[in-house]
Amino acid sequence: MREQTGPDGWREANRARWDERVALHTASDYYDQDEFRRTRDVIRDFEAAEVGDVTGRSLLHLQCHFGQDTLSWAYRGAARVVGLDFSEPAIETARDLAAEFGYGPERAAFVAADVYDAAEAVPDAAYDIVYTGIGAVNWLPDLVGWAETVASLVAPGGFLYLAEFHPLADVLDDKTGSQVAHDYFRTEAWDEEAPGSYTDFEARTVHNRSVEWQHSLGDVVSAVVGAGLRVEFLHEHDMTLFQRFGVLRRGEDGYYRFPDDRPRVPLMYSLKASKPA
Ligand SMILES: C[S@@+](CC[C@H](N)C(=O)[O-])C[C@H]1O[C@@H](n2cnc3c(N)ncnc32)[C@H](O)[C@@H]1O
Repeated sequence: MREQTGPDGWREANRARWDERVALHTASDYYDQDEFRRTRDVIRDFEAAEVGDVTGRSLLHLQCHFGQDTLSWAYRGAARVVGLDFSEPAIETARDLAAEFGYGPERAAFVAADVYDAAEAVPDAAYDIVYTGIGAVNWLPDLVGWAETVASLVAPGGFLYLAEFHPLADVLDDKTGSQVAHDYFRTEAWDEEAPGSYTDFEARTVHNRSVEWQHSLGDVVSAVVGAGLRVEFLHEHDMTLFQRFGVLRRGEDGYYRFPDDRPRVPLMYSLKASKPA
């Protein structure tokens, strides 16, 4: 196991931050738990199209938060889903939701563990699909170690599917998204005090330290390839899931895009990488 280094106390600070945000998120409009209980499915249409039919497959969701996406894959027919997250309150909430939906642990299991310990922590040796993203890799200091862990958990003939916010969006200025304001190649952690959450920027919170890392698209792809997976596709998307920049407009499909008179840059990307059978 490679050592993950970062600013002192980064992991504990991030975990305390996420622990505190679970209750905030389950009560938020963003995650709309009432609607989720009704639809049981929050998978974005591009993810569903790119992942394909999951019927009868086993799926591991790394950094699953409180399990909405994980349980959605079960609803979509995955035979067995396992969600992993280092936040105990998130995992407890996910387990409660699974029980409420009538899924026993054989159908939907949730594990509290660090993503770098996933290979030892999850109940099965490997999965048909390892699914992750939507704000996941930015919490990880070491992509090579992450990719090695992921690759070890993909069953022969299976694949990794990662959908993430595009690193180019992180270097643009927050207001207009038109100026390069930050270094694309930054390797140093962003170690900041950031109260609230993306579900409510005004929320009063106590554990506000956030330690995150930027990962270039090249580093993500190289880590995945270096771990022995074969990249099937890398798609860049002109939309994102929230008001990332003030100028973005929400479309009828619910995604946020630059207005028609603005040149576009990619705001998200998705990658599928397989392990030979
Ligand atoms: C933005 S959320 C993931 C988003 C998820 N797709 C969702 O919206 O429900 C990021 C998750 O990563 C988890 N996390 C952060 N660092 C982690 C680590 N080192 N190991 C395991 N989980 C981690 C957090 O607890 C949090 O639930």
